[in-house]
Amino acid sequence: MNKPAEIPTDLERSAFWMPFTANRQFKKAPRLLARAEGMHYWTPEGRQVLDGTAGLWCVNAGHCRPKIVEAVQRQVAQMDFAPTFQMGHPIAFEFADRLAKIAPPGFSRVFFTNSGSESADTALKIALAYQRARGEGHRFKLIGRERGYHGVNFGGMAVGGLQYNKRVFGPGVAGVDHMRHTHDLSRNAFSRGQPAHGAEYAEELERLCALHDPSTIAAVIVEPVAGSAGVLVPPKGYLERLREICTKYGIVLIFDEVITGFGRMGAPFASQRFNVMPDIFSTAKGLTNGTVPMGAVFTRDSIFEAFMQGPDGIELFHGYTYSGHPLACAAGIGTLDTYAEEGLLTRASTLERYWEDAAHALKGTRHIIDIRNSGLIAAIELEPRPGAPGKRAYEAFVKAFESGVLIRVTGDIIAVSPPLIIEKAQIDRIFDCVKQSVQSVD
Ligand SMILES: Cc1ncc(COP(=O)(O)O)c(C=O)c1O
Repeated sequence: MNKPAEIPTDLERSAFWMPFTANRQFKKAPRLLARAEGMHYWTPEGRQVLDGTAGLWCVNAGHCRPKIVEAVQRQVAQMDFAPTFQMGHPIAFEFADRLAKIAPPGFSRVFFTNSGSESADTALKIALAYQRARGEGHRFKLIGRERGYHGVNFGGMAVGGLQYNKRVFGPGVAGVDHMRHTHDLSRNAFSRGQPAHGAEYAEELERLCALHDPSTIAAVIVEPVAGSAGVLVPPKGYLERLREICTKYGIVLIFDEVITGFGRMGAPFASQRFNVMPDIFSTAKGLTNGTVPMGAVFTRDSIFEAFMQGPDGIELFHGYTYSGHPLACAAGIGTLDTYAEEGLLTRASTLERYWEDAAHALKGTRHIIDIRNSGLIAAIELEPRPGAPGKRAYEAFVKAFESGVLIRVTGDIIAVSPPLIIEKAQIDRIFDCVKQSVQSVD
């Protein structure tokens, strides 16, 4: 093992501008992680922390899994980098073909990116270019949804629906509109799995079609289960209705499966879990188990074929220096091998009932106003402290970390999404700790 990293002594002066972090607050009272294995992290002082968030929704097979570590080590020694623009290397083709085998039938083409944000923007650009390739170039509008998160690049930010992520970054992309979100505590609080009410929120898309003229709309993008905005599970019938409306008007339906992909929902992809097929889906995170940054956009064969009709030449003027990076592909192949050997792409389905019961056992705990779950994801929503939204959940998060469990908070919502190798006793430990932490804050 490598020598443990030095414990930094003066973080307040550190050069590291931390992302999505209250830098000054964090650097005064840091929470550092220095080592990881399986279901656990260890702090630099050697304190063990149970990982209730799979890192950041990405370490689906658990940490430092030998097949993945060895694959990356082998690859870095053999070939560190090679381009994929008008050149190629075998491992990128091998990984794409392996991915196509676990994708739903008819999704046999994969475009590589380096992150979920790049996957979202790539999916949107493919949708726009596809409409043009099939003679529908008048379609340029993009529809997202309130409380959607599609990363932080300009396309994903524009279709995303989180106000804080957009408000200081200017006018953004033209031709974007949003459907309303599906969160409805008045009717759906404490739903187990898909909420019963809210399929009619999909009619919002009909409204936007009437408003904009559907022949101007290129694509609709949604997360099958909205993750970052606080785990919003689609109401029964909602995704089906979105699919129908998109088909009716020739709109490309994009699922952002950056969180829901690679087993989190008990099936390889959420489209299979909910039995609703998009036209394009974007992934990242669990694609390489978070080991090396990478994203992948899957398209229906018919979309790829539409690009292959014109004269010979570059069919899509898009790509990244690191699309199909050899180390990421090696990590991805090691990841798929690990998923296959341990049945991890479907394991969540066998744990889901236990997980759901453990989560919902917190009902009645003070401050908790909702509990919701799907696959191996759960959210516990707290009543905001008057005049201080987000503070209560943040304090619970800090308490949980101090007690040895990593959870995640957005606003007053606690989200848990552990590695898919989790055991039942560890599920109990996570929810026990959440309960104690929530109870202990004002
Ligand atoms: C649904 C979804 N899309 C896109 C992203 C952005 O991914 P990244 O942070 O890798 O750019 C995320 C990240 O959490 C996500 O949850």
